[in-house]
Amino acid sequence: MLERKWFNRINATERQSVGRDILRFDTGQRYPYEFEATQHEIPMLGLEKSANGTIVAHLTDFHAGYANIDPVHEEVLRQVEAARPDLILLTGDYIDRRTTDTDSPARIQRILSAMQAPLGKFAVLGNHDHYRGIVTSTRLLEKCDVHPLLNESHQLENGLWLAGIDDYRAGTPHVNQALAALPSDRTSLVMTHNPVLFKHIESRKIVVFSGHTHGAQVAVPFPSPKLVCWVKLGSPYVAGWYQKGESRLYVSRGIGVTRRPYRFNCPAEAAFFKLSAGSQDAEGSL
Ligand SMILES: [Fe+2]
Repeated sequence: MLERKWFNRINATERQSVGRDILRFDTGQRYPYEFEATQHEIPMLGLEKSANGTIVAHLTDFHAGYANIDPVHEEVLRQVEAARPDLILLTGDYIDRRTTDTDSPARIQRILSAMQAPLGKFAVLGNHDHYRGIVTSTRLLEKCDVHPLLNESHQLENGLWLAGIDDYRAGTPHVNQALAALPSDRTSLVMTHNPVLFKHIESRKIVVFSGHTHGAQVAVPFPSPKLVCWVKLGSPYVAGWYQKGESRLYVSRGIGVTRRPYRFNCPAEAAFFKLSAGSQDAEGSL
């Protein structure tokens, strides 16, 4: 078990509202879904002593401006403050492309700016960010002291390497360029919005963080989340851990919603990871 307790689920009253909202096809005027902070441990081959125990927060798919998402953003901020991560990774879709709420950039800017991590805040863009414009979206991140990594890599102060690859569908991903500087003898971290890109990355010592799927938002037996993600997104990845050779992938269910203002049996997620020296073959999740 990890030493620090990072999270608590939202209270029962809020969770109970989910069923009522679904039955009434609520349009998001009330609290629309559950939120869950998940904890994981990542064994990393060749991890430097200085990076052992690093706490990473992975946040994705905020979709500001759509549905009643602001209370969830506030909860995510509280969870991040409680976890006191060393590093924050953001993997896209900060503002929903369909929003008509002109205040949403200011509100998400406040949330992202308030998050603090000594090793920094790094990001890639999602498809919604590309639809809004790469310059506009990048500028928003920089105002929040978030460093975009678009097909490039960066060595953190603790020696760990981090890379960001542009979005698979809406962006221009250059995998080789982004990963060129990563060492071959130890594990590095990689961000990309759409997990489908994982299929096209050759096996190497990396842990990839993605979002985009929202875990399908609605988890029912039929159509199953796997079928929904395959048909709608062309993604064999839905949520959680995947492995291909030496490469590992974590797909977060994300924070926000899009297209439909609800989730069912598929809580929103903020994911926290503790990096530890160990075998690459070990399972990534606790
Ligand atoms: Fe998204």
